[in-house]
Amino acid sequence: MDGMKIAVITGASSGIGKEICFALQDRIPAIQEFWLFSRRKESLQEVEEQLFRPVRLFSWDLTKEECFQKYEDLLIKENPEILFLVNAAGFGKLGRVTEISVEEQLKMLDLNVKALTAFTLKSLEYMGSSSRIIQMASAAAFLPQAEFSVYAATKSYVYSFSLSLREELRNTGVGLTVVCPGPVDTPFFAVAGGGGRMQKIKQLFMAKPKKVAKLAVMDAVLNRPISIYGLPMKGFYLLCQMCPDMLLIPVVRKFYR
Ligand SMILES: NC(=O)c1ccc[n+]([C@@H]2O[C@H](COP(=O)([O-])OP(=O)(O)OC[C@H]3O[C@@H](n4cnc5c(N)ncnc54)[C@H](OP(=O)(O)O)[C@@H]3O)[C@@H](O)[C@H]2O)c1
Repeated sequence: MDGMKIAVITGASSGIGKEICFALQDRIPAIQEFWLFSRRKESLQEVEEQLFRPVRLFSWDLTKEECFQKYEDLLIKENPEILFLVNAAGFGKLGRVTEISVEEQLKMLDLNVKALTAFTLKSLEYMGSSSRIIQMASAAAFLPQAEFSVYAATKSYVYSFSLSLREELRNTGVGLTVVCPGPVDTPFFAVAGGGGRMQKIKQLFMAKPKKVAKLAVMDAVLNRPISIYGLPMKGFYLLCQMCPDMLLIPVVRKFYR
């Protein structure tokens, strides 16, 4: 591969995706250009100002399916080598399924599942033997979560798809890390709404996005399969592996009240 060595980051305008941009800048000197995707151009420009390498901005709404073809066309035209693909764009809505509009719930699928899958699959042939994929799942992937139902299900998809894809990529040298943080201090909860239902769990376990991002990049470099920030969430992961779902679902639900 002799194309420009790039990092593709979706959800780069805010929160964990933005911090991953800075962590990649600090840790991976081989990246020659950053390609940043999200809807808000001004927020992307603010990130661009803090990156000291060439940047290309794409203010696209990734819930719109035409973006997938546009992304493929862009790759064909530029023929880059994708060193890092980071799928961080995502959102969740808190509440009972009857309290959230059907359209909004389907949008979670469009962004968290469809866009992530499309960007991953379309990027693969541009990845070389030391390339890495970072997929933002969540600790919500470990267990079905009442009142976060569709969101948790999308993250279970990300977790399952990512680990099976990692296996398929085993002999290619392309590494994949699925990132599963608990609550992180970003605008995510303002978007999630739900009238402060996450208050208790937030106060207990809230992590800083910079720390989650730094660990994600380090785990990706080391090609670890799963990146979980902090002891409480590592403990939660082990608990979910050991206990039947039906026992834990009502317990976790109590945190939202
Ligand atoms: N914060 C948490 O507690 C937490 C915990 C576990 C996992 N996660 C996951 O981590 C990822 C990043 O979340 P965050 O906490 O950093 O939240 P955030 O600060 O709200 O960031 C979400 C990002 O997704 C982008 N985005 C949203 N809708 C989009 C659309 N239709 N098209 C393109 N981009 C879109 C946003 O940019 P624009 O608004 O500019 O489009 C933003 O850059 C998500 O996948 C989330 O599910 C978060």
